[in-house]
Amino acid sequence: MKDFIYYAPTQVVFGALSEDKTGKLVKQYSGTKVLVHYGGQSAERSGLLDKICRALEAEGIAYVKLGGVVPNPRLSKVHEGIELCRKEKVDFILAVGGGSVIDSAKAIAFGVPYEGEVWDFYMGRAHAEACLPVATVLTIPAAGSEMSNSTVITNEDGDLKKGYSNNLCRCKFAVMNPERTYTLPNYQTACGVTDIMMHTMERYFSHDDDMTVTDAIAESILRTVKDSVFEVLKEPENYVHRAQIMWAGSLAHNDLTGCGTTGDWATHQLEHELSALFDVAHGAGLAALWGSWARYVYKENVTRFAQFAVNVMGVTNGFKSPGHTALAGIEAMEDFYRAIGMPVSICELIGRQATDEEIKLMADKCSSGGSTTTGKLKVLHRDDMENIYHMANR
Ligand code: NZQ
Ligand code: ZN
Repeated sequence: MKDFIYYAPTQVVFGALSEDKTGKLVKQYSGTKVLVHYGGQSAERSGLLDKICRALEAEGIAYVKLGGVVPNPRLSKVHEGIELCRKEKVDFILAVGGGSVIDSAKAIAFGVPYEGEVWDFYMGRAHAEACLPVATVLTIPAAGSEMSNSTVITNEDGDLKKGYSNNLCRCKFAVMNPERTYTLPNYQTACGVTDIMMHTMERYFSHDDDMTVTDAIAESILRTVKDSVFEVLKEPENYVHRAQIMWAGSLAHNDLTGCGTTGDWATHQLEHELSALFDVAHGAGLAALWGSWARYVYKENVTRFAQFAVNVMGVTNGFKSPGHTALAGIEAMEDFYRAIGMPVSICELIGRQATDEEIKLMADKCSSGGSTTTGKLKVLHRDDMENIYHMANR
C-alpha cells in the first residue's frame, strides 16, 4: 500500500428536498453575491433553478444568473462568466447542474482573481494561487466534480480538451437530492454510470498490491452501481437506486478509491481526444475505448484483471488460467455496456469509423506530438495510443 494524503473537504448535504438548504449553506460559507451557473434547459425546465433562486432570496443573498453551459464545456463561456463576475462583484459561484456546469464554474472561479489568461492553467503554463469559493447543486451523478479537485474545459480554438487539478477548486458544499436525477434520459444515466465505474477502475488497475480495504471499497462501488443502473433504467423514479448511484458517483472520484494506489488514467486521456474531436458524451466515449485498452494492457497484471472478473463481473467460467478469466471479465464488461445502451467501439459511438487522419490527430494530441506518455499500468507511447484507437475503430 503506497503512502497517501486523503483530502476531501466538501460538505455533502444529501437527501430529498436538500436543495431547500442552499441559501443557508451559501450564507454559512460567507457568499454575499452569487453567480448561479447552469446548463442548457434541464434545471430551468424542472423548476430547480427557480427553487434555488427563492432559497437565496429567502436569506437575502443577491445573485446573477448565467446559463448555457454545454456538455464538454467551452472556454468562451468561461470568459463570459469571468467578465460578468468581475462586473457584478460576485464572491461565490453556485453550479446548478452536472460535471460540465461545475467544471465551468471552477474555471470561472480561477479566472476572476487571475490577471492572466485562465487557459494557462489548463496548458500547464501557470498555477493558480487563488480561487473564488464554488459549490454545487448536483443534477447528474457522473463526473464526480462535486468532490474532485479537477476541472475539464474545451478550448474551441484547436478543439483542445484539457483538465486542471488544484485543491483550491474543491466545492465548499454539494447538495445532492436523488429525486433531481429522475428526469435524466436513460442515455445520460448510462453515460454517468459508465464514468462513475471508470473513475473507480482507473484507480483499481495498477501494479500495487496489499490494498485490501481500498479494493473492497472499489469493488463494492462497482457492483452496487452495476446492479442499480438496471433498476433505474426500468424505473427512473426509484429513489433507493438513484440514491445508491448518486452517492457512489462522489465516492468514486473523491480519491477514496485511490488511497494507496497509483492509478492509470489512460482511458480518460484517450477519451478526452474523442470528445474534443467529435463532441460526444464523456461516458459513452469511455465505454467505446475501455475494452480495447483492457485487451492491450491486461498482461501487465493478469491477476488483477482476473480479480476484477470474479469479484466485480461475477465471472465463474473462465478458470482455465488467470488469462482466460481476465479476458472473460473484459468481455463481461463489454456485455454490460451493451446492456445499458453504451457503445463498445468508435463506430458505434460516432456512427462511422474514424479516418486514419483522425486517429493520427488524436494520438498526436494525446501525446503532445509524441513528447508525452499516458497510463501507469502500461506506459503508453504515441504508437500505443494509435494502436488502441485502431483496435476500438470497429
Ligand atoms: O444542459 P442541460 O439541459 O442541463 O442537460 C444536461 C446535459 O445535456 C443533462 N442533464 C443534467 N442533469 C439533468 C439533465 N437532464 C435531465 N435531468 C437532469 N437532472 O445531461 C447532459 C450531460 O450533462 P454534463 O454536465 O455534461 O454531464 P457530466 O456530469 O457527465 O459531465 C461531463 C463533463 O465532465 C467532465 C467530462 O470530461 C465532461 O466534460 N469530467 C470532469 C471531471 C472532474 N471535473 O473531476 C472528471 C471526469 O472524468 C470528466 O472528465
Ligand atoms: Zn470521467
